[in-house]
Amino acid sequence: MKIFIIGGGGREHAIAWRVSKDSCAPDIYCAPGNAGTATIATNLAIAADDLVQLREWALCNKPDLTIVGPEVPLCLGITDLLEAEGLRVFGPCCAAARLEGSKAFSKEIMLAAGVPTAKSLLFNDPGRAIAALDSFGLPVVIKADGLAAGKGVIIAATKAEAVEAIQAILVDSIFGEAGAEILIEEFLVGEEASILALVDGEHAVILPSSQDHKRVYNNDEGPNTGGMGAYTPAPVVTDALLPLIKTQIIMPVVCEMKKRGCPYKGVLYAGLMISADGIKVLEFNTRFGDPETEAILPRIAGDIIPALEACVDGTLRDDHIIVRDNAAVTVVMASGGYPGRYSKGLRITGIEDADALDECVVFHAGTRVEGGAVVTDGGRVLSVTASGEDLKQAVERAYQAVSKISFEGAHYRTDIAARAFNR
Ligand code: AMP
Ligand code: GLY
Repeated sequence: MKIFIIGGGGREHAIAWRVSKDSCAPDIYCAPGNAGTATIATNLAIAADDLVQLREWALCNKPDLTIVGPEVPLCLGITDLLEAEGLRVFGPCCAAARLEGSKAFSKEIMLAAGVPTAKSLLFNDPGRAIAALDSFGLPVVIKADGLAAGKGVIIAATKAEAVEAIQAILVDSIFGEAGAEILIEEFLVGEEASILALVDGEHAVILPSSQDHKRVYNNDEGPNTGGMGAYTPAPVVTDALLPLIKTQIIMPVVCEMKKRGCPYKGVLYAGLMISADGIKVLEFNTRFGDPETEAILPRIAGDIIPALEACVDGTLRDDHIIVRDNAAVTVVMASGGYPGRYSKGLRITGIEDADALDECVVFHAGTRVEGGAVVTDGGRVLSVTASGEDLKQAVERAYQAVSKISFEGAHYRTDIAARAFNR
């Protein structure tokens, strides 16, 4: 069996690693992959958003299943393009990927489906947007409608900051076309959690809950990043909440998308705010989360490819996914300076020692091979992951693995999963 994975981060290494364990022992190809995927797959020198080359490779090589990692190729329509050639793709079509690609569309679907979410208003006119600020409290959230590489959400503590954000997006076009419209949104208070579900157009299977750590420093301080670590399960998502999330959030969206003639297939990721007065959706992503996936996939037992194929075929059942009764933690090791400026090409040592530890696996994010050595090649460099009987054991193992690895300027949070213990 031939599996084609699009993307080259920690998430894609985790997906490649997980499918490589399936009993069918697939041949795996990654575009572009990284130094980690190179050890278990064939890397292709094709960028994840180069639809022309991706299609050409797929047409020549006829993969049995293509798994799309990042949002950009999904929103550009890679699924539609490959399906038109008779290929099987795990990931939503372009129209369904708008759930992530347009925050305005996502709100529209949530309102139509009766899914709880923050109150918001949509604007393309800066004057009207500024005039509307008085109807929101402070802080207030300003969101660019389109994809902005994770930077499109600004939380303004004062009215002056909100005005500045509105002008930066709508007048100065800091996000280009992605900021042609904005949402002004009520600020929600609570604890965040991520719920990922496999969806086949009609049915959904909820994967284990998790929590991301978006801020760069301990105690959730400093600027936002692509994610500095994750753990699963997230105790804030209690056993009582999980079925409610399926019936009140995931299924209504799946039904609404089907009703609109663009059935949702792939991973539906709900970013949730959980508070005393209930659960509200902050955002939907239309793909596996990163770094949540690095923590979640090691908890899936048995084969995973049949579940992904069932999503494509519309035959997904609960027993396609078997979850191990354990916990897992991912600690992201980042380049010095990240999420600001950082250098690349720094030699990394100790990955093999970390990998050799019990229940540990080092997923590469921004790495490449240079002169036979693994070097840094991005802001988030490694997702160091460990499983354990419980979160405490998983955390201990993950940090033991981190301690084996070094590269100049490396930094990481030392409090991944701490919130689970401070409850
Ligand atoms: P999003 O890309 O919509 O998930 O937003 C990125 C991050 O901004 C979220 O993970 C939250 O931490 C924060 N955020 C987004 N919307 C809100 C909101 N309405 N209230 C509070 N925080 C928010
Ligand atoms: N972990 C957040 C994301 O994947 O968007």
